[in-house]
Amino acid sequence: MNKVELYEVGPRDGFQNVDEYIPLETKLGVIDGLMDAGMRHVQITSFVSPKAIPQMKDARELAEKCVGKYPDADFFALVPNRRGAEAAWESGITWVSYVVSLSESHNKANIRRTHEESYAGLQEIQSALPDLDVCLDLATACGCPFEGMKWAEDVVPFLKSYIDSGIRTVNLCDTIPIANPAQVRRTIDAVRDAYPEVDLQIHIHDTRNMGMVNTLAAIERGVLKVQSTLGGLGGCPFAPGASGNLATEDLAFMLNEMGYELDVDVRKMIELARYQATAIPTGQFSGHLYNIKDSA
Ligand code: COA
Ligand code: ZN
Repeated sequence: MNKVELYEVGPRDGFQNVDEYIPLETKLGVIDGLMDAGMRHVQITSFVSPKAIPQMKDARELAEKCVGKYPDADFFALVPNRRGAEAAWESGITWVSYVVSLSESHNKANIRRTHEESYAGLQEIQSALPDLDVCLDLATACGCPFEGMKWAEDVVPFLKSYIDSGIRTVNLCDTIPIANPAQVRRTIDAVRDAYPEVDLQIHIHDTRNMGMVNTLAAIERGVLKVQSTLGGLGGCPFAPGASGNLATEDLAFMLNEMGYELDVDVRKMIELARYQATAIPTGQFSGHLYNIKDSA
């Protein structure tokens, strides 16, 4: 059976949705727990305007501490522009998620940029920081709150200029979310056919209880790098109605039961999700297992 690599994005996608500031020590405590559970790939923060997302105002300090403490971990961060990319690089982060929405309306709501401006922003990053690896986070890849459904036929041509500019990792994000497994399969197949050189990841929110089936559809189509959020904490401040991502510990439990090889200790992840729910009492969690007594 294949190995699935879990990419934990809770410290960014989860924390950014909590209104009240989460103390730095609490954030670091959750990241310590993730390391202890064997999680290797963690999106620890985002380097964004603190006016847009006040929760991420400690990005630099947090990143420096994490990189210093766990030099072998694979930490990454979300950035919307060159300024964020430079701050991430200076903090010791070697790859970033550059977020662009397939829907231009969502792109404008989220990062206040047209598609053209976002593309120019990537080129600025690539010329300023040639050694920084950039993954394209394609938000609203399956649909948008303002523009409706998005299909493989929208995704493939949109990606062309990014791939021509050297992007080799694309994270397909069902941000609102709206996807179904058939659509996920079709989109993955179409992107693979068009760009076989590209490494795909998947990032699915769980508002309609479709996070697990959509993620499994992607895995069974060979996408073996999947993003999720401890406890199902998350959402998108600029996608009205979006709830948390699929919960990492629930996903890990299912994959483990199915016989997939994983790096994480499922029991420790469930316990950590429980700890996190206590440590962040105002968080909204959509996970299941952490809430079931004796599930670990
Ligand atoms: N990190 C920190 N501060 C930043 C920044 C960054 N990467 N980029 C811009 N800023 C600051 C600017 O210095 C400016 O500050 P000032 O008002 O004190 O001078 C302010 O943010 C606005 O900058 P500007 O370039 O005019 O950006 P904007 O107002 O058009 O906003 C973004 C654009 C992208 C910076 C902002 O919308 C953003 O950070 N969005 C993040 C959204 C997000 O994280 N969404 C969820 C994840 S998908
Ligand atoms: Zn998300």
